Amino acid sequence: MNKKNNLGLDICFMNEDDPFVVFKQWMSEAEKSEINDPNAVALATVNDTNQPDVRMVLLKEFNNAGFVFFTNLNSKKGTDLKKIPKASMCFHWKSLLRQVRISGDITLISDNEADQYFNSRPYISRIGAWSSNQSKPMEARDSFLNKVEEYKKKFVDKNNVPRPKHWSGFLLSPKKIEFWKDVEGRLHQRLEYSKEFNLWKKQILYP
Ligand SMILES: Cc1cc2nc3c(=O)[nH]c(=O)nc-3n(C[C@H](O)[C@H](O)[C@H](O)COP(=O)(O)O)c2cc1C
Repeated sequence: MNKKNNLGLDICFMNEDDPFVVFKQWMSEAEKSEINDPNAVALATVNDTNQPDVRMVLLKEFNNAGFVFFTNLNSKKGTDLKKIPKASMCFHWKSLLRQVRISGDITLISDNEADQYFNSRPYISRIGAWSSNQSKPMEARDSFLNKVEEYKKKFVDKNNVPRPKHWSGFLLSPKKIEFWKDVEGRLHQRLEYSKEFNLWKKQILYP
């Protein structure tokens, strides 16, 4: 019989009071088994008419403060988050038959942190950040490609492309993190951590 944790779940759910320890372990396993982008995550936001919207982003950092992704602040998600700074994320690691759901509050990361990550990106991605009015209608693909060429001429020095003010990172500070694992016959296992008065409480859920 498979080894179980204190709550009767498979041992991969561990016996941790801190969900970040479990997340770190699950992410490291996904990094080994996913064919690409284990850090790809669906990000849900809501606009001021309560309309939810969801799209993929790449998780670029996580620590005890939360989960960080980068984007254009004038994009659809950027404007949603400016008005309603709450979001939800969902990872699905098909190779492991696991899911992680995270929800909580959003804040903008510091300029210094954003600069550091921006400067680590490939040249063409930094030029792209200047050239793309992300999520806005485009007259013709060529107008965008021409802008890419213009910005390449403007920022010739590949080591010195400043970060556009409209491009930065958001930190999702979680209030809930749920770990899910497939079990045959849909008898799945679920472990939910909820933050109460700065302490993580955990409980198992029916599938
Ligand atoms: C695997 C994957 C990763 C992506 N990562 C990002 C990302 O990190 N940041 C981003 O702004 N868009 C990313 N995108 C594009 C978004 O899904 C989306 O098309 C774009 O950000 C515009 O979204 P919005 O109009 O809702 O703001 C990614 C798409 C895919 C498929």
